[in-house]
Amino acid sequence: ENDILNKLPLRNKKVLITAGPTYEAIDPVRFIGNHSSGKMGFELAKAAANLGAEVTLISGPTQQKVNHSLIHLVPVISAQEMYDAAHQYFKDVDIAILSAAVADYKPLKAATQKIKKNDTTLTLELTKTKDILASLGQIKTNQFLVGFALETNNELENAKGKLKKKNLNLIVLNSLNDKGAGFKKETNKVTLIDNKENITAYALKSKTEVATDIFNQIIKQIHA
Ligand code: CTP
Ligand code: CA
Repeated sequence: ENDILNKLPLRNKKVLITAGPTYEAIDPVRFIGNHSSGKMGFELAKAAANLGAEVTLISGPTQQKVNHSLIHLVPVISAQEMYDAAHQYFKDVDIAILSAAVADYKPLKAATQKIKKNDTTLTLELTKTKDILASLGQIKTNQFLVGFALETNNELENAKGKLKKKNLNLIVLNSLNDKGAGFKKETNKVTLIDNKENITAYALKSKTEVATDIFNQIIKQIHA
């Protein structure tokens, strides 16, 4: 029995993961969202649970399903709800990985009634959502904080900038340049950058395998 337990490197660790898109209400029937499937976040949650961790998975609207005794799913809809849930759990966790594709802007005011069609053009005023990852970076104590960076150009530079600015331990650069990678796909091509600027580039692989690569790197760094 001890042998089995020793093979669970995240036993007794608590892990927080954000996943999926967020939906920002325009009116009671419409929203601003994006094409994030939630797959990467759910794979990260499963990988962590399979390594023995107790996982809180905060997810925006998604088709993904999970059924694991060590995964507690917290469904949310908007960026503000995801922010509130993340802050509720963050203090107690050892590792937080923010993989959600949070909407950067939301309507300044959601209409209480369905907006009727009138003029040829309609202008929506948008306001920035709170940056959940950056806010956790500001309050973190001993948590190992991991972010994602979705980039199309100046990839390494932009990812390093986010790592520093948001006070992260590790950032996962998601290359959208690769045809097989990204939103709605089964595969991802990532580069991991740590806070000492060590860079590790991985091949295009399944999101399940990418999740394992990310945890191998996290475990290595926590023990370093
Ligand atoms: N993120 C977040 N809250 C937001 C926006 C982003 O927690 N309101 C997190 C994402 O989950 C991801 C990281 O920040 O882990 C980077 O997201 P990304 O969209 O690549 O970067 P942004 O900082 O939003 O900048 P931009 O979209 O302008 O590149
Ligand atoms: Ca963004």
